[in-house]
Amino acid sequence: MVAINNSASAPGVETSYGPAGYKGLVHNSFLLSLSAFASIGGVLYGYDQGVISGVLVMTSFGKEFPSLAHNSTLQGWMVSVLTLGAMFGALANGPIADRLSRRWSILLANIIFLIGSILQAASVNVPMIFVARFIAGLAIGQLSMVVPLYISELAPPTLRGGLVALQQLGITAGIMVAFWLNFGTQHIGGTGDGQSPAAWRLPLALQCLFSLILGVGTFFLPYTPRWLMMKDRENEAVSTLSRLRRVPRSDGRIMNEVLEIKVSVLFDKATTAAMFPGVTSPIRLSVERYKSLLALRHLNRRLLTACALQLIQQFTGINAIIYYCRIRRSPDVDLYDSDIGLSGSSVDLLATGVIGILNFLCTIPAIMFMDRWGRRTVLLVGGMGMGISQLIVATLYAVYEHSWASHRGAGWATAAFVWIYICHFAFSIGCINWVIPSEIFPPGVRSQAVGIAIGVNWLSNFIVALITPRMLDSITFGTFYFYLAFCVFLVFWVYFALPETKGVPIEEMDKVFGGNQGEQDTIRMASIRHQLGMGGVDGAVKDDSGGYVEEVEDHDWTV
Ligand code: BGC
Repeated sequence: MVAINNSASAPGVETSYGPAGYKGLVHNSFLLSLSAFASIGGVLYGYDQGVISGVLVMTSFGKEFPSLAHNSTLQGWMVSVLTLGAMFGALANGPIADRLSRRWSILLANIIFLIGSILQAASVNVPMIFVARFIAGLAIGQLSMVVPLYISELAPPTLRGGLVALQQLGITAGIMVAFWLNFGTQHIGGTGDGQSPAAWRLPLALQCLFSLILGVGTFFLPYTPRWLMMKDRENEAVSTLSRLRRVPRSDGRIMNEVLEIKVSVLFDKATTAAMFPGVTSPIRLSVERYKSLLALRHLNRRLLTACALQLIQQFTGINAIIYYCRIRRSPDVDLYDSDIGLSGSSVDLLATGVIGILNFLCTIPAIMFMDRWGRRTVLLVGGMGMGISQLIVATLYAVYEHSWASHRGAGWATAAFVWIYICHFAFSIGCINWVIPSEIFPPGVRSQAVGIAIGVNWLSNFIVALITPRMLDSITFGTFYFYLAFCVFLVFWVYFALPETKGVPIEEMDKVFGGNQGEQDTIRMASIRHQLGMGGVDGAVKDDSGGYVEEVEDHDWTV
């Protein structure tokens, strides 16, 4: 069997557009601005997820929806219905992003989001608010899968991690803004009986502003070169790439990148045609692509990696903290209130406000350094930090569970380790869970696979939201040991099973995950590379008689 030369870089061709890390980001300010703009999708996500916990405890909200205010199960469902909607949105958006383009699926998500948030802000009864949150959830799910996909398809390999991590910065910014906005609007009409309905309707309505900005902005965003190539719009793909990289179309690096994208797309089409001969219906083809994710070994390995990462991210317990240190005010389950001997609104501020700020700030180093440190190192350090923090929190909780009031120091220490946990989450798995799924799949199944992975994230989020209050009730400190087990698992899994993808061009992920290794694949790839005038198999390409010849010296860069 012959080994395939699917390197993105033809020998002797310069492929780099500059340094990795923050220097590269500054150098590529156009790309940075585009990615930051698309990450408003993350702001919507964080905002909508964060705003509800503050709204639920407002007096005026309770007066308008008494059945919700006095029923914690219903409250839990109201929080979770968004995650359910998001799961469906993420799953459905795979084929939509292929058909409409990544760009227009961002617009579609914003239209749905606007409907959902207007209905939320205008809600007059419980069913209406549930439906509204489900609709907003659909859009949030769509955005949570398409924004990382969009950015990763725009980015050069050396900056991809940092740019995709902007989505997480958007999420954390959204959570933070929602908290402080709630904190401000709760004073409209006073915090007591006279509180105005504007106190809760305003923060719910304000999210429309972000959505409008992103929606209108999509008319100015480019298509991704990879999607254009999939749609045989090669000339536009070249122009877009040259605009994105800020170098002329004739630059050798542009030609090299375009050729590699083209090889990957053509290979994918040839493989699909060979695997599903005669299938022309787009729906059937889409179903077959989903099936191939499970049937082909190198694809199901990637799918497993992407989904495992999502599941572990949620089961490190991040949302147990984000949701339940604010929503659950009853003393027996609220980690920050009377349970650890700290009380009053200043503590609420410290506990939840500080979490929001730390979560946001600690995401920044990931953006600056992820492409230099590598995904594995960042995950290992983050996983160990989260694990140690969970261990200390769980142990302090176990020891002082019934005597927080007389051990205020222990209470503060617990809060401090929750903050340390948040910092480790923020710079590691908080960001990397968006990066890895969006970079490891080949073009034909990329959007479907990212949709499934992000769907798993939302499903796990839903489960965590559902089980945490019950676990805190029944096994109390055991809840933290439970989440600790996943931090430990994360470290071992990354160490033994997760390959490094830092700096690897998307088109070369096959090398990392062992795709294109079969005889048929090898011949198919060699033939495509040969047709495009590129090197084929271990420095050789097939000649007309089917034998391998020396690699062509002069590349024909015409595309
Ligand atoms: C997670 C969310 C979480 C947020 C906190 C995201 O990466 O997917 O579930 O609430 O981080 O910053």
